[in-house]
Amino acid sequence: MLATTIADDVYAISVNDRTTDLFEGLWPISLEGVTYNSYIISDEKKVLIDLTKEFKTDTLLDQIATVFDPADLDYFVLNHMEPDHTGAIKTLLRVAPNATILCTAKAVPFLKEYYGVTERIREVKDGETISIGRKTLQFFHTPFVHWPETMMTYCIDDKVLFSCDAFGGYGALRGYNFDDECTDLDYYKRESLRYYSNIVAKFSKPVLNAIAKLAAIDVKVIAPSHGLLWREHPEDIIALYTKWAEYATGETETGVTLLYGSMYGNTEEVMNSIAKGVSNAGVPVDIFDVARTHTSYILPSLWTKKGVMVGAPTYEGALFPAMQSALQEAGIKNVVNKKAAIFGSYGWSGGAEKRIRSIVEPLKWDVTGTFIFRGGPTNEDLKNALVFGREFAESLK
Ligand code: FEO
Repeated sequence: MLATTIADDVYAISVNDRTTDLFEGLWPISLEGVTYNSYIISDEKKVLIDLTKEFKTDTLLDQIATVFDPADLDYFVLNHMEPDHTGAIKTLLRVAPNATILCTAKAVPFLKEYYGVTERIREVKDGETISIGRKTLQFFHTPFVHWPETMMTYCIDDKVLFSCDAFGGYGALRGYNFDDECTDLDYYKRESLRYYSNIVAKFSKPVLNAIAKLAAIDVKVIAPSHGLLWREHPEDIIALYTKWAEYATGETETGVTLLYGSMYGNTEEVMNSIAKGVSNAGVPVDIFDVARTHTSYILPSLWTKKGVMVGAPTYEGALFPAMQSALQEAGIKNVVNKKAAIFGSYGWSGGAEKRIRSIVEPLKWDVTGTFIFRGGPTNEDLKNALVFGREFAESLK
């Protein structure tokens, strides 16, 4: 594939990955894919900003070669050390024998620990500028967006912000790079939210710090290392990331994430009545069978919705295991401060409710009601479940 021009002598190299099944070995992307965006600047100095996963090194080199010989590179800017952006570094150091790595001081030990690289490294300070000829690059340290060593790079002359993980999303690019070329922006916004909730959400405070720090600079193009580049409306992706980061501590959206698991359909039947009650109240509801849905797809709803209804049967005197996993992963990802309700089948001993409370109460989920039934639900149970759902939904307004 050819490199894509984003400004005079500034190019995007988008390496699409449609074969990795699990991002970070954990989050499913088989259907969506992902891109690793790198950037090159062909000035008096030749600069490569962020790399790619190791197995895509040849693709990266081939695309660089459509603009200049990779052997001529002078700088590798490593905004972030995670191997999806540095996996190619050992090969690149061999290919470009005169190149120097530019990174934060915190990245230096990571270079040694991950790759055994201890030489040809130059630390850059927060706010430091480096002239590369006609253009000047400026570096902004943005720790914990996503790892502690992270920084962003700003091309002062072209007003392009190379933001690495920040403002990125899942989804291999379908033949375009920019927001104004995209024919399905809603898809990329959804996949950006899934990426945010899976990868970045835990670091929401550092995200807000970084956005505040960069507020003074004039950004014409947001060039992240995953997903679309934003040149027509860079403010859109900044606004989305700001909103999602603020959800970590602030008011979220009126809506219900309805999680359920069901062994023989009894909890599911009650769930359907509860969902009807929520919908009757005019409140949006997302429904997830936790045994069949990867948490990656559940987290966007949990992150954005104010209410959570948790429905699971008692399983061997405890909690249906798939629900236990889903709730624990929500805890790992700092899904806190929810209004919650619990429902499910008593089984032959009860016990699920107690386990659910033990997981969600430390997350400051305010459990406002429970609806437990025995065996299969009666018609009376189903009527009561509908009221239970409606009243919970009303309480969110
Ligand atoms: Fe895309 Fe934190 O690496």
